[in-house]
Amino acid sequence: YRILLLNGPNLNLLGRREPGIYGNNSLNDIVARLTEQAAGRDIELSHVQSNAEHVLLDAIHQADGRQDFIIINPAAFTHTSVAIRDALLGANIPFIEVHLSNVHAREPFRHHSYLADKAVGVICGLGADGYEFALEAAARYLARR
Ligand code: DQA
Repeated sequence: YRILLLNGPNLNLLGRREPGIYGNNSLNDIVARLTEQAAGRDIELSHVQSNAEHVLLDAIHQADGRQDFIIINPAAFTHTSVAIRDALLGANIPFIEVHLSNVHAREPFRHHSYLADKAVGVICGLGADGYEFALEAAARYLARR
């Protein structure tokens, strides 16, 4: 299977950015760990991080027909982007939404997601481990389908 990992704005700063909220792992650490986990399951993992909404949209468009599943941490775009929602629906690729922090324990504007009701599932508050749980869940979902 082919799985696309997408990370939104400011996640390139992981490890340095508000470590009390987002942890000490860098995005490179997370992606390296996940790539290893994927290889062990015969999954080909691709990764795109961008601070630009249109780059994420293009990545989702290009995934159509090429990727079996998307794991996405849309970061702040979670709470703003109808466009990312529409792109995911257009590509018609199942996805899991991941957040490092527990968005429901934070400011009210983080409680709403434009994607969550269309996701296979949402994982939040479990830090970098959340990505590993998402990959495991995606693998099971694809094997079952
Ligand atoms: C985040 C939560 C978002 O509210 C925030 O804008 C982020 C990161 C998380 O992983 O906890 O940038 O998606």
